[in-house]
Amino acid sequence: MGYATVFVGLCLLCALASTEAQFNCSSQSKCSALIDYQAPNKTTLGAIKTLFGVKKFYNLLGANNLGISTPPNTTVAENQTILIPFMCLCANGTGVSDNVPKYSVKAGDSLDHIARDIFSALTTYEEIARVNNIAAPAYIIQPGQHLWIPLPCSCDLVDGVKVVHYGHKVEKGSTLEIIARRYGTTENTLLRLNGMTNSSELLADQILDVPLQACSSSIKNESLDTSLLLSNGTYALTAYQCVKCKCDAANNFTLQCEPSQLNSTHWKVCPSTQCEDSSLVLGNTTGGSSTCELKTTCAYAGYNNSTIFTVLANSSTCPAPSPSPNNKAGSKMGLQILSWNFLFVTVHLVFLCLCLSQ
Ligand SMILES: *[C@@H]1O[C@H](CO)[C@@H](O)[C@H](O)[C@H]1NC(C)=O
Ligand SMILES: *[C@@H]1O[C@H](CO)[C@@H](O)[C@H](O)[C@H]1NC(C)=O
Ligand SMILES: *[C@@H]1O[C@H](CO)[C@@H](O)[C@H](O)[C@H]1NC(C)=O
Ligand SMILES: *[C@@H]1O[C@H](CO)[C@@H](O)[C@H](O)[C@H]1NC(C)=O
Ligand SMILES: *[C@@H]1O[C@H](CO)[C@@H](O)[C@H](O)[C@H]1NC(C)=O
Ligand SMILES: *[C@@H]1O[C@H](CO)[C@@H](O)[C@H](O)[C@H]1NC(C)=O
Ligand SMILES: *[C@@H]1O[C@H](CO)[C@@H](O)[C@H](O)[C@H]1NC(C)=O
Ligand SMILES: *[C@@H]1O[C@H](CO)[C@@H](O)[C@H](O)[C@H]1NC(C)=O
Ligand SMILES: *[C@@H]1O[C@H](CO)[C@@H](O)[C@H](O)[C@H]1NC(C)=O
Ligand SMILES: *[C@@H]1O[C@H](CO)[C@@H](O)[C@H](O)[C@H]1NC(C)=O
Ligand SMILES: *[C@@H]1O[C@H](CO)[C@@H](O)[C@H](O)[C@H]1NC(C)=O
Ligand SMILES: *[C@@H]1O[C@H](CO)[C@@H](O)[C@H](O)[C@H]1NC(C)=O
Repeated sequence: MGYATVFVGLCLLCALASTEAQFNCSSQSKCSALIDYQAPNKTTLGAIKTLFGVKKFYNLLGANNLGISTPPNTTVAENQTILIPFMCLCANGTGVSDNVPKYSVKAGDSLDHIARDIFSALTTYEEIARVNNIAAPAYIIQPGQHLWIPLPCSCDLVDGVKVVHYGHKVEKGSTLEIIARRYGTTENTLLRLNGMTNSSELLADQILDVPLQACSSSIKNESLDTSLLLSNGTYALTAYQCVKCKCDAANNFTLQCEPSQLNSTHWKVCPSTQCEDSSLVLGNTTGGSSTCELKTTCAYAGYNNSTIFTVLANSSTCPAPSPSPNNKAGSKMGLQILSWNFLFVTVHLVFLCLCLSQ
């Protein structure tokens, strides 16, 4: 009995130590975000879509760059990483998933089991309790109750540039240097965004806020999808499913869109995507076959409830240094967070010791 009490106490402390998975977000906005999920057991893409409340199955496919005809019964192995796309809501200085996922409590569930096992520690029992107004210390939940599972995210600009904030689960043996190089950012940016002062603070299984460069586009600000933001190696369907857009670093981080060839969810027939005063349709390109030649593309400019907008966009194929907006270190910011961070690390270490001691 006494042992059990101590054990529960220590577990609570361990869970406290991992409340670090909160991303700062001072924007007053919503945006799209990504997070890593590793299913504890063998499952299917369809089950993951349902668990995370992803609206459309193709959103999940696009985030993972899986073919558009991949079926929902596709097997996902234990611990295989799947990227979850979701809408982020910023409030009170932090970002959390916007009222998704919704989890229906089963008999025998505890908040800690839901956070740690079912949602692979992407959040903590405390965060779930906080956003669902569940009172400590009893944390009473009822079977059938619908809980909002808050996933960490952000909509903040990074060095003045819109990015896709990606909650990356740190693999054992990984380093900030490896992560920065893999995702096209810098160690300093990662340290700053995650409130760290030294890369040696990185922990396995930590959810790290990694800013991913997003593709630039010609989407008008009055378009219904004006906030469409895609990172390298992802695609999305838009304009009521009539248009497929993808982002690829190899294409200079410029959004590439084309007719999806799918039926629209709104129109009987998808509207024309021909560019005005031209024979080109969305996605067609002329020129640019040799280096340093002007290239004209019929590019996607958004949609409203009756039209798909297109625009002729010129670009040059001259080699240019690829833009990297994430490499200006915020030294002022760094100093500001230093003292706060020292306290954080100290507290963290104390909890770590307690956790290890069980
Ligand atoms: C998935 O479902 C299709 C039919 O929709 C079926 O033909 C196929 O065998 C299933 N695959 C698996 C792995 O269950
Ligand atoms: C999956 O991850 C868990 C926890 O890290 C580990 O115990 C388990 O062995 C892993 N399973 C496989 C198949 O790698
Ligand atoms: C933000 O704080 C206010 C006031 O404390 C609270 O009413 C609101 O629910 C909080 N929002 C979120 C998303 O936590
Ligand atoms: C995973 O499978 C094990 C063994 O079948 C089971 O005990 C556990 O509850 C499952 N975990 C989840 C999150 O479903
Ligand atoms: C997050 O915001 C709080 C309050 O503004 C600040 O003290 C903290 O240093 C910030 N953390 C990071 C990682 O920037
Ligand atoms: C980072 O931490 C390591 C090991 O704890 C230490 O050797 C190194 O001096 C630290 N670097 C800085 C810049 O503080
Ligand atoms: C849309 O963009 C135009 C110029 O590009 C700007 O003048 C206008 O204020 C913008 N509207 C909104 C709602 O942001
Ligand atoms: C873009 O993604 C591809 C794989 O999808 C990867 O090989 C490449 O390194 C990435 N480039 C950047 C700049 O992130
Ligand atoms: C589109 O709808 C038509 C009839 O409504 C159907 O025959 C066709 O298979 C659908 N195409 C796709 C790609 O879903
Ligand atoms: C233009 O794009 C359409 C649809 O993607 C394609 O069928 C057609 O072959 C393209 N034409 C040219 C000239 O590239
Ligand atoms: C399109 O939207 C406008 C204003 O938002 C509305 O007045 C109009 O009725 C809509 N048209 C259709 C076909 O839905
Ligand atoms: C890459 O894109 C930037 C703007 O997004 C543009 O200024 C530059 O010319 C492009 N470079 C190439 C090689 O297309």
